[in-house]
Formats: sequence, structure tokens, C-alpha cells
Amino acid sequence: MGNNTWKVIVTTALISVFSSHLVKAAWKEYKLSCAANKNKIVLQPRQYDEDLYREQLARNYAFLGEEGMRKVKEQYIVIVGAGELGSWVCTMLIRSGCQKMMIIDPENITIESLNTHCCATLSDVGKHKVECLKEHLSKVAPWSEIKAKAKAWTKEASEELIFADGDSPTFIVDCLDNLESKVDLLEYAHNNKINVISSMGIATKSDPTRVNISDISMTEFDPISRCVRRKLRKRGIITGIPVVFSNEMLDPRRDDVLSSVDIEHHAINANRDEALRHLPELGTMPGIFGLSIATWILTKVSGYPMKKNEVKNRLKFHESILETFKKQMERLNEDKDQSSLIVLKEVGYIVEEMFRGKSPISGYSTKLALTKWKADKEVSFTNLVLLTKDEQEIHEKRVLRDGEKLTAVYSSEVLNVIERIFKEEQYYS
Ligand SMILES: *[C@@H]1O[C@H](CO)[C@@H](O)[C@H](O)[C@H]1NC(C)=O
Ligand SMILES: *[C@@H]1O[C@H](CO)[C@@H](O)[C@H](O)[C@H]1NC(C)=O
Repeated sequence: MGNNTWKVIVTTALISVFSSHLVKAAWKEYKLSCAANKNKIVLQPRQYDEDLYREQLARNYAFLGEEGMRKVKEQYIVIVGAGELGSWVCTMLIRSGCQKMMIIDPENITIESLNTHCCATLSDVGKHKVECLKEHLSKVAPWSEIKAKAKAWTKEASEELIFADGDSPTFIVDCLDNLESKVDLLEYAHNNKINVISSMGIATKSDPTRVNISDISMTEFDPISRCVRRKLRKRGIITGIPVVFSNEMLDPRRDDVLSSVDIEHHAINANRDEALRHLPELGTMPGIFGLSIATWILTKVSGYPMKKNEVKNRLKFHESILETFKKQMERLNEDKDQSSLIVLKEVGYIVEEMFRGKSPISGYSTKLALTKWKADKEVSFTNLVLLTKDEQEIHEKRVLRDGEKLTAVYSSEVLNVIERIFKEEQYYS
């Protein structure tokens, strides 16, 4: 296959040299028509020469093939968010041959956005983000048909925004940086069976080799992914949403300033219109995330082969933890129904999402067990704690059997941590 690809590239290159006079003519014609439309800022869509399109996209034709490029051309992609992330997605999809797009964002370009934005200049400051992109992209790809909506995406306005003019998108790209709206948009796309891809936390990340694309259920070591995962789960969505995320762990030297728990708190306590952009962020990272999304969409829609992710094998681990809990219920002679209250997949949630895979007391992540926490309360999400097996034994003896008070057994620090975990769970419930 490699051989053929190179042949195609060489041939295309040769053809492009011979046809360049043709392209010059096309450009001349195009410039003339621009001059005629001098008063209009934006060019009329599809006012182009097929030869120009092919010349400009010769290398993508060589890579994705005729059929692949036909599919790329057919897409109608709706991009929600046109800032640090969305600007890269829009730009590279248009530069790669996508012809039809809708960009939605209510905001204007600010000075500080120049640090991350794909194409905005100082003279764009104060303009609508969507108009800035539309203007810029029309100059790159006169064949593109870009709709720009300077409006906020909301659940209520979703039909009107996304299906404007009766067109159905082939893809929605979530480039929002607010947790609530993000989850609403993902839920909307999922429920309406529209292909979607989303971006997780960019702030505090800096390692380009850790940027990854996976199903939301497979994301790890990313606090924003955890928030999105938990919120979606409470809306009945566990898998089926591809996301770009970074599994880079926070530099421990920064931990006292900004732990991943702090980031989650920041995200869940921000109100609907507050973005996550107050966290420290390196300006190159949004571009990497955006280009990853654009690349993923291009290969996906053109049918370029991609290898599958392996399924995370945590199932056995969760099963063994569930076993520790069932045994405890037997030892305590508690109602059997109580232990079957938590089915296996809920154990996974409790272990991974609520307790982040480790005992809140010792921080150990091996030999784990689940225990009922308060003796006089029913078993529920907010009355179960992940401990080590040794810790479970002590808890069972002193608190659950001998009836000692929690404050007599644990320091206030430990109790605060557990209270915080339960409070967090109430937020998601
Ligand atoms: C945003 O840009 C639009 C159009 O460029 C302008 O009319 C509006 O006043 C701007 N808003 C702000 C808050 O700068
Ligand atoms: C990407 O994420 C998946 C799922 O979490 C993981 O199995 C894989 O190792 C990750 N790849 C990289 C390069 O981090």
C-alpha cells in the first residue's frame, strides 16, 4: 500500500506542476469576482474552480483517496465554541477540504485570546469570534460554506442552532469550556444520535505525548474527564462519546497549589456561564487538542483505518471488591438485599469515581475492600467507603460491631475527607 501511496503523491506533484498555470487562471478569475463583490465581506459559497480545490488539496487526495475526500466534502460539521480550541478545529477542517460548517460562539475576540487562538490578530480584538473565523477561512477556502452564529449554545436553543436551515449535521464538535453546557451538549448529541467528539481538560497539561483520544469511559488521570463522566452517568450515558483528553498527571510539585481535586471542585462549583479558563494553561495545548480532533474526524469520516482501543480490564478487580462487601454483609447478618443493592457496575463507579481507586485513609490502592460506613444508616452511595482490607476489619469491629463513635476512631481530617466525598456524590446525584 505504501508504494502505491508514494506513486500517487509523485504523480500528483507532477500534475500539480503542469497544472499550476491553470490554477493561476482560476485565481485570477476568482480575484476578479472578489473585486466585483468588494463591498461584501464574505464571499459567496461554492464560487470556485474544482481544479483549484484539487490542487490545494492534492496531498490530502493522495492520503485519503478519491472516495475518502468525497466523504470529507460531504460533511456538515457543527462546531460549538470558536475560541482557543474551536478555532483550530474549524481552520484545519476547512483547510483539509471540508466544505460545509457551522460555527457557534457568542463571544468576541479579546487580547488574551491571541495567546491561544489559531488566526486572530490584534485588529480582530473586539470582533465576534465566529465572524473572525469565517472571514479568515473564506480567504483560505473560497469554496467553503460557513455559517456563523454569534449565540450561546443552550439546551433550549439547541434545535434552532444546530438544525438551522433544516440541515442535519454529520458531526458535532464540543469545544465548550463550561461543564454544564458541555454535558448538556453531549447529552443532546447522544440522545439525537448525532456523531460527536468532545474535549476534556486542557488546563494544567503540558505533555504533548500524553494527548489521547478514547471513549469517555476509558479516560483516566484527568479531573475534568472525571466530572464529565460522572455527570453523564447520572443522565444514563456511560459510553459512546469519544473525547480528546490528556492522561498526564499533575506535577506533584504543583500539588499544594492545585490538586486534581481542586480542579474538580473549581469545575463543579463554577456557574453555568463561568468557563474553566482561570486555571493555568499553556498556550500551545489547545492547538494540540484541536488538531487532534480535526485529524480524528478526517480519518474517521473518510474511512481511514484506525486501530481499536483495548478494553480496560478492571472488571475482575471490581468483582473482588464487591466480594469483600458481600462477605461483610454476611458477617454482620445484614439483609441480603442490602448487598445486592449495589450491582457490579456501581462498584466500579464507587471505586474509580468516588474514591479515585484508593483508600481515603491510607491512600493505598491495593488490597481494597468496601465497607458500610455508619452503623445506623442504610447502605447507599453515601454510606459506603473504600478501605484497605485491614482498615475494613478495624472499621467493622470498632464501628459496626462495638458501636464506637466515628469521632472516637478517626481523626477529624479523615472524617472531613469522607464527608467531602459524600457531598460531591450528592452534587452529582
Ligand atoms: C462584539 O462584536 C460585535 C460585532 O463585531 C459588536 O457589535 C459588539 O458590540 C461586540 N461586543 C462587545 C462586548 O465588545
Ligand atoms: C490512551 O488511553 C487509553 C485508555 O485510557 C489507554 O489504554 C492508552 O494507554 C492511552 N495511550 C496513551 C499513549 O497514553
